[in-house]
Amino acid sequence: MNGRHLFGCRPALAHTAVLALLLLCIAALPAASPAVPAPASSPSPASNTRPAVAIAPGSSGEARARIAELRAKIAHHDELYFRRAAPEISDSAYDSLKRELAALERDFPSEVAAASPGAAALGDDRTGDFPTWRHRERMLGLDKTYSKAELRNWHRQLLARLGHGEATLVVEPKFDGLAVSVTYEHGRLVRAVTRGDGNEGDDITANLSTIATLPATLYSSGPQDPPPDRIELRGEVYVSWAEFARLNRELGTDGEPAFAHPRTLAAGTAKLLDPAEVATRKLEVVFYGWGACEPAAATPASQRGFLSQARAWGLPTVGDIQLAHDADELWLAVQNLGRLRATFGYPADGAVVKVDSVALRRALGETEQAPRWAVAYKFAPRQATTELRGITIQVGRTGVLTPVAELAPVSIAGATVTRATLHNRDTIARLDLRVGDSVVVERAGEIVPRIVGVDRTRRRPDRPPFAYPEQCPSCGTAVVQLPSEAAVRCPNSACPAQLRRRLDHFTGASGVDIRDLGPATVNTLVDRGLVREVSDLYRLRRTDLTALPGFGGPSADALLAAIEQSRHARLWRVLSGLGLPRVGVTTAKRLALRFDSLEGFANATFGELLPVVGPSTAREVVAYLAEPRNRASIDALVAVRNKP
Ligand code: IVH
Repeated sequence: MNGRHLFGCRPALAHTAVLALLLLCIAALPAASPAVPAPASSPSPASNTRPAVAIAPGSSGEARARIAELRAKIAHHDELYFRRAAPEISDSAYDSLKRELAALERDFPSEVAAASPGAAALGDDRTGDFPTWRHRERMLGLDKTYSKAELRNWHRQLLARLGHGEATLVVEPKFDGLAVSVTYEHGRLVRAVTRGDGNEGDDITANLSTIATLPATLYSSGPQDPPPDRIELRGEVYVSWAEFARLNRELGTDGEPAFAHPRTLAAGTAKLLDPAEVATRKLEVVFYGWGACEPAAATPASQRGFLSQARAWGLPTVGDIQLAHDADELWLAVQNLGRLRATFGYPADGAVVKVDSVALRRALGETEQAPRWAVAYKFAPRQATTELRGITIQVGRTGVLTPVAELAPVSIAGATVTRATLHNRDTIARLDLRVGDSVVVERAGEIVPRIVGVDRTRRRPDRPPFAYPEQCPSCGTAVVQLPSEAAVRCPNSACPAQLRRRLDHFTGASGVDIRDLGPATVNTLVDRGLVREVSDLYRLRRTDLTALPGFGGPSADALLAAIEQSRHARLWRVLSGLGLPRVGVTTAKRLALRFDSLEGFANATFGELLPVVGPSTAREVVAYLAEPRNRASIDALVAVRNKP
């Protein structure tokens, strides 16, 4: 159902009807980001300060104020999304803001100019860290649809504009990454630029040149078939689900994934300042269109023609495409893609529908922001409502406290969800979460589901606010929060929970890989005080182990042999196992190539680290090594490894 035409009423009536019926009362997200991803059928986002369901403004003044408010919010979220690659709200919440704005701008055209200017409609991803480059042809965005009715409407208008009854449509997956324009001149890659504000973007050529599947030269079968003199190829830089999981496994600390979504990983990586650091993450690129093309005669005649030509040049192109010739076929194709996307190795957040013929595209033209010959259909966010049964606090290996929502099991998109991340103390406060609440859980692609809203109509008045612990739940030490950090930490490095996590990481598959040592044994060793530091593993005696429940002589011998073997583990394993900031397996392997011993690494300077890992990681590693506690534990490991 289309949110703007809920109950078949005009928007104001629809909104008021919803309010009157009190069908939905989803309370809000952060003060700074007060939108809640409205379920597919709800009319608009809600906020803390506004009524739980937004009421369409009755007067022009109200409309003007709301338009200005929405523009400011959208600008704020654009800044987070495009420039910092760190969105605070879900895509659906963001889309709800955009749709409410579009509806108001449509219904109150006189207020559009009067309301204060806000976000540029396309957003702007330029960071100021790169030289900028002007696109020869502007990079537009896409209009979006969210329902069968909206898609049909788009199709109806398309045919009306064309003045005939049919047009072949190509339906492609909508890759969820960072839009780029890559220019080839006489078949040679000369430049890769982000969309920026649509007119000019950041020049990230060096970073994208690390992508193995991006050819430096286009393949040509001979002089009779030369590539165009110049062509701007439009595509998306993205990170596959497999790479996203790998990097999160490597870098993730404290139970929190290091990156919330492959899109933030792709955008953040493409904008890293050091191409060597970019090369440690497997970015990918896919092409789905073109901009300027010279000579004009080389311009593709159709989308299908473009895709097969680009493939022949050796470029990765969008696959999984479908064709449609009328509204019914279009809806089937879109639904098909929606079903198939669970099997895609890459993140896709919708389908893009394009008129195949370039001649028809020219006839249709474009608006300020988007072509009339294409539209995106966004897949519905995968959400469900369930009961928040409790909030538990995990303590990670660096002492960060991470709250986790314990949920009544609920099925979302084929998976049973029982837990969701709450990120940090602020998230609970912003949502004003209380145990027993009905919460809206979303799996929008992230591996870890998250809570995006609370149904306050179903809250019993006597439910107390959640009291965030002032003490570490593991060791009782008073927690601290640095002014610059959202995270609350247990400052006690001897905290058993932190030690357990450090040991798990050190002995795990990406560390020194002691397979005989499982989490249960680690817990017992810590609980009995037999291991207080990672290096204590190497002081364990046979009698220490045989005294443990369930440990006979043979299992004690096997574990001791495995521990002894790990003393000589390769250097990268030790470096990765230490859990240095931003150092996963790939970076650890690069460090191990540069430093031939743990001792050598422990004395590394910023200047020595810089060429290997880039400035940001180098800075953090130097700070880590300067910390006396970290230094002491590395020195103890050096002694263990040097023992004959
Ligand atoms: S065509 C004139 N095709 O979606 C715009 N875009 O929300 C032509 N995107 O800016 C875009 N997959 O970054 C097109 N198969 C696809 C796409 C795609 C992802 C992105 C692109 C665009 C954004 C619009």
